[in-house]
Order: sequence, then C-alpha cells, then structure tokens
Amino acid sequence: MKMNIPITKTVFKDEEKESIVKPLETGWVVQGPNVARFQEMFSSFTQSKYAHATSSCTTALHLGLEAIGITRADKVIVPSFTYIASANAVEYTGAEVVFCDIDLKTFNIDETKLENIIKSDSSIKAIMPVNLFGLCANLPFIMELAKKYNLKVIEDSACGFDAWIENKHSGTFGDVGCFSFHPRKSICTAEGGILITNDNSIANVVSQLKDHGASKSDLQRHTEKGGSLLPDFTMRGFNYRMTDMQGALGVCQMNKKEYIMDGRRKIASMYDAALVEIDELILPFTPQNFKHGYQSYVCLFTDGEDISNLTKEQIDRINIKRNIFMEKLEEKGIATRQGTHAVHTLAYYKTKNSFKDEDFLMSYAADRLSIAIPLYTEMSDEEFDYVIKSMKEALK
Ligand SMILES: Cc1ncc(COP(=O)(O)O)c(C=O)c1O
Repeated sequence: MKMNIPITKTVFKDEEKESIVKPLETGWVVQGPNVARFQEMFSSFTQSKYAHATSSCTTALHLGLEAIGITRADKVIVPSFTYIASANAVEYTGAEVVFCDIDLKTFNIDETKLENIIKSDSSIKAIMPVNLFGLCANLPFIMELAKKYNLKVIEDSACGFDAWIENKHSGTFGDVGCFSFHPRKSICTAEGGILITNDNSIANVVSQLKDHGASKSDLQRHTEKGGSLLPDFTMRGFNYRMTDMQGALGVCQMNKKEYIMDGRRKIASMYDAALVEIDELILPFTPQNFKHGYQSYVCLFTDGEDISNLTKEQIDRINIKRNIFMEKLEEKGIATRQGTHAVHTLAYYKTKNSFKDEDFLMSYAADRLSIAIPLYTEMSDEEFDYVIKSMKEALK
C-alpha cells in the first residue's frame, strides 16, 4: 500500500497549542516573558552567555554581521554549498561574498582552501562557516586561522541545534552563532531564529539592533518606572523581533529537546545500518569527536561510480540518475530533497559574478548528487521499512 512520507515533521503537542493561547489571553504578544525564557533556556543549553531571539536565522545572521562590524568595504567568506540566506545576509550589509568550496565528505567548508583565499584579499574581514545538516564545520581549525589573520567568525548554525565538537556546542566557537527554528529544523517556532554570543558588547548591540535601535525594550518600558516616555534610538536598527507566541513554542520545544533529538538520532542510526550495503549511496559522515545533530539525513548519490576525480561531465551524468531515483520515490509517496544549493549556480549570484558551475566543483557535485531522505522524531517502524523497501526497489 502506498504511504505518504514527508521530508520532516514537527513535534507539536497539546503543550504547544496551550502555550500559544496564553499570550493572546494576556495581550502580551510581542517579545516578552516567553521570549526571555526561551533565550535563557537556549543559552543555558548551548553554554553561551547571551542569546537573542529573532524573527529568523537570516535576520540573526544580518544582526550578527552588523554587530561584528561588517560594512560595505568588507568581504566575508561563505561556503558555496549552503542555503542562499547565508550569502544574502552578507549582501544586506553591503559587504561582498567570497565563496569557498566545500569538502564533499562533510558537505562543510573545505578548511584547507581557506588560507589561500584569506591571503589573496586584504578586504576579507570575516568567515561564515556553516554547520550544515547538523554537522559542525572544522571549527577549531577555522578559529586558529581566524586568530592568525585577525578575522571575525560568524557561525551559520541554522541547522546546528544539538551539534557538538567534544563538549562544545555549535555556534559557540565563533564570535557569534545563529540558529533557525523553521519547520525544516529540529526544533521549531514556526519562523524564528536566535543569535548566541559570549561577547557582552556584541550582545548589547544585537539586543538594540533587533528592536529598531531602541535603548530600552518595550517590556522594560512597561515594567520599569517612566514608561510614558519613549526611549532614545542610538543606532539605525531593524525590527527583527520574535513574537511571544513563537517564544512560547520555543520554550515547549526546549522542554522536549531530548525526546526530539533521541528520536532523530535513532532514525539516523537505523538508516546507517539499513543503507550501508547500498553501493549507489555514500552515507553521512561524522568525524571523530563530532556529534551530529541530524537536522537532515543527506546522502551522496554516486550510482556506484568512483567519484574520487569528479568532472562536470560525470556529475551531470550521475545527476540524471539521481533525479530519476528521486522521481521514483516521489511516485511512491516519499518526499526527498537535494541537500541544499550550490549558491554560485543560482541566477542572482551566477549573473552577478559570471560564475561557471565548475568554479566550485565540489559544491556543484553536492547540489547535483545529494539527496536528503525523510527524517523525523516520530517516524514509525512501518514508515521506516517502507522508505527502505522503496529505495531498494527504485534502485533496481
Ligand atoms: C544553512 C542555512 N542558513 C540560513 C538559513 C535561513 O534560516 P531562516 O529560514 O530561519 O531564515 C537556513 C534555512 O534553511 C539554512 O539552512
């Protein structure tokens, strides 16, 4: 019998439903007590000193870049295989994006290529490593380089919830780390994001910048004396605040994070075991001492070919087969996705920079050959078995 298996599913229960009604009852719907509680829980979990919730990870990245001082005179290194928002956030500041290719094994920035890029251009002021699909980039190495060349580091940890290197959470290596709570992520607040930092001055700037540049928040004005006078605005800010309904969802999701993450990791290890003998796929790789957060379970479709010396022709040839494989799964009711984009191949960046697909060949390969398969906490055994059986049939 045909089943319908989505790429992911949020874990929303009665607690979430009840929690979002309360702000409606009290009337306090903009960032308030729930957002404050969510921020506390998030900074305690990640062991970061400060956390500021935002309307999305994209807006958190924009705030982070502004707060570390990125201006239109600067350039920022971004991996060429990531969601377009990483690069767009840099463009919001007027700075220029400098792409760096990735390592196909981890889907993360190829740290061995970074030093040459840094040395080639004195306008580079920051690196934005992306902790893609729940796996940290090689952050200890990147932080060493950043120190050597006096660069700032902003981690795009949109997918990095509960991703660790030893006992250090993603987002806490760089000057700032930014997370997403979009429904494709492990914990969800509808839209939503958060920025974490250990730097008091960055935290203060972010708190103001996300609130139009106001020197006092609405909640402070309403709870402290002298609330009748509007605050001063000491910087040109934005409205990137999270609502208190979203904050309430965030609190509920943090309360069940072990349940959510244990379930995701269990399904990921079941995939590891069930797919290991499939020659057409390379399964996700986790370096030693890294703990994968499995925001997505992303394989590389090789069709069983040796991919150690990939060319554009080989990628294009295998890509046709990957797409057929995905279409067959779709016919069986199973949602799959390419991992994410090779951003240099997307029309805006491609046209602007006259990029060719092969300029960042590993990113091009990741875009054309990756396949994310369904992963969610409450996937049943029946659903899991159906996915495996269907994948095997589709490959016949
Ligand atoms: C790597 C990466 N960065 C940034 C974002 C943007 O997150 P948001 O949708 O919360 O703005 C995403 C979302 O998919 C992402 O995957």
